[in-house]
Amino acid sequence: MEGVVGVSPFVIQLNDEGTYHLNVQPDPQALTRLAASAVVFWSRKAIERRGRFHLALSGGGTPKQLYQLLATPEFAQQIFWDRVQVWWSDERDVPADHADSNYKMAHDALLSKAPIPPANVHRVRTELGAQQAAAQYETEIGLAFERLRTDEASGALVDSGGWPSFDLVLLGMGDDGHTASLFPHSPALKEGERLVTAHHVDKLNAMRITFCAPLINAADAVIFLVSGASKAAMLKRVLLGDYAPDELPAQMIAPAGKLFWMADAAAAAQVADRPAYPAGEFIYRRSA
Ligand code: 6PG
Repeated sequence: MEGVVGVSPFVIQLNDEGTYHLNVQPDPQALTRLAASAVVFWSRKAIERRGRFHLALSGGGTPKQLYQLLATPEFAQQIFWDRVQVWWSDERDVPADHADSNYKMAHDALLSKAPIPPANVHRVRTELGAQQAAAQYETEIGLAFERLRTDEASGALVDSGGWPSFDLVLLGMGDDGHTASLFPHSPALKEGERLVTAHHVDKLNAMRITFCAPLINAADAVIFLVSGASKAAMLKRVLLGDYAPDELPAQMIAPAGKLFWMADAAAAAQVADRPAYPAGEFIYRRSA
């Protein structure tokens, strides 16, 4: 298979050669367990190194099972929740109690069950309106990562610049190649300065608030979670097709840290020549 440099039994390997990991699990349940073990792994690593774990959650349907599993004693007891800071890599322009809210999905599945201090849950304040919510979120991130500091003399916020580095960003991939709320041909793809932006998504005829690609790419680790046959064709295009980020925004994600693609066999059916995978790991060297 072009680009495959090796197959190894599954471990969370740290790989510094600019490659990314594609780990395929037989079914959604195994995929969810893999992702949950990875969240525990990265939380331990971050807390050991920095005393806290900044985690950005993704929305949509796929990660719900992951959040529910993380809420079970088996996994919840492995996480030091008081050191965890939870964010969202994107949010819909709906109230926090709306059925479409990414916050609501994570709250109901995990955050209402895990012993995480409320102050550690950083909800996108959509009640401010999309543009203001994006600006507020950007400030909240800036303060949390000390990119923004209050000048003692003037009391003004001083921006030291740079890209805050989340310890782990969870992402999904739409069957159109979008990730977070970075949709094909959307203005957000061109945003090179802001951490967070709000933009109208024509396809949805709705506003979305989203991390911009450079913020995601500043992360220590990014995990894409992709499940289901409906994603198979797009996963092949994104991983093995030509580099076309305006059409395939998921291809924009190439973090300074580690990039893991985690998929079930149904989603990964077109990225290898095997009808069924061992629960193993492929390491691809990304073509230039
Ligand atoms: C959202 C998500 C979005 C999602 C993809 C995949 O707000 O909808 O952040 O980027 O990850 O659309 O969604 P599924 O996992 O439900 O297919």
